[in-house]
Amino acid sequence: MLDGKKTLFSGMQATGNLTLGNYLGALNNWLTLNEEYECFYCVVDLHSITIRQDPAELRKRARALLTLYIAAGLDPVKNCIYYQSHVSGHAELSWILNCFTYMGELNRMTQFKDKAAKHSDNINAGLFTYPVLMAADILLFQSDVVPVGADQKQHLEIARDIAERFNGIYGNVFTIPEPYIGKVGAKIMSLQEPSKKMSKSDENVNASIYLMDDPDTVIRKFKRAVTDSDNQIIYTDDKPGIKNLIDIYSLTTNKTVEEVVKEFDGKGYGDFKMAVGETVASILKPIQDRVADLNKDKAYVDGIIKDNAEKANYYATKTLRKVQKKVGFPEKIR
Ligand code: TRP
Repeated sequence: MLDGKKTLFSGMQATGNLTLGNYLGALNNWLTLNEEYECFYCVVDLHSITIRQDPAELRKRARALLTLYIAAGLDPVKNCIYYQSHVSGHAELSWILNCFTYMGELNRMTQFKDKAAKHSDNINAGLFTYPVLMAADILLFQSDVVPVGADQKQHLEIARDIAERFNGIYGNVFTIPEPYIGKVGAKIMSLQEPSKKMSKSDENVNASIYLMDDPDTVIRKFKRAVTDSDNQIIYTDDKPGIKNLIDIYSLTTNKTVEEVVKEFDGKGYGDFKMAVGETVASILKPIQDRVADLNKDKAYVDGIIKDNAEKANYYATKTLRKVQKKVGFPEKIR
């Protein structure tokens, strides 16, 4: 809770390209949340360096992500879209919270185990304390709700545990965050393995539609989408490929599943895939045009970045001062 308004916080990694799944399942549902919540969307570059990064690449991807969020319709004045590295409170609170987190708790984190196995040449302490930094992100803004996917549930749990532990010692310092359960976001599946979620880190580029894919690529990927062989457009779990395409078409045309099934009654997969491809391409086009415009207007985007960093800093400092006082740091002499 900040200034009487509930707070929503989300952090995103600038790795890989945002997909249609990210858009239809998350981003597109967030566009009006600012009416109800004070919303923070943080590009978590401090988290990114737990895996070795190429510096120029990281900077480029972080900017691209931030730009894409604005282009996709998140109003950057009503939503605080900013870089984590521009708000030093994240790192400062993270240090303090490290001292209230147990090795045993962190040892249980499945993402740490996965990443440590995957990057066995670089199992650094930052990778281990990644969840503490994430807790700091959330608690710094007294966040009430955090939209998280299944893979981040455990991290939100530990953030709650740390907050409760801290509050237990020092009184009510932190808001205890809850997972954000909004309108059930659509779960968009891989175009190549429809039993798997569409993921920006999928190695097969044909499995995902990236928001920056040009129309030809979009249409080609839909044409190649894995379906079954019976050529009937029916919505059933037995036909996960077609079910996924119906979901995508339904969401992008605002038609119900029944309407879609009726529209394509008697038609074949070829026609249907073409229609889905063309519709998705037409949804992505204005977003891509807006990205191009924003890329041309460096001063405007820079202004947004500066203003939002200031806004985030203002709130972060408030929480941080309170915490520093609680743990016994002397007040600064002004
Ligand atoms: N760990 C999250 C992910 O990989 C990103 C993240 C960092 C985050 N800080 C956060 C998500 C705070 C929600 C809230 O997706």
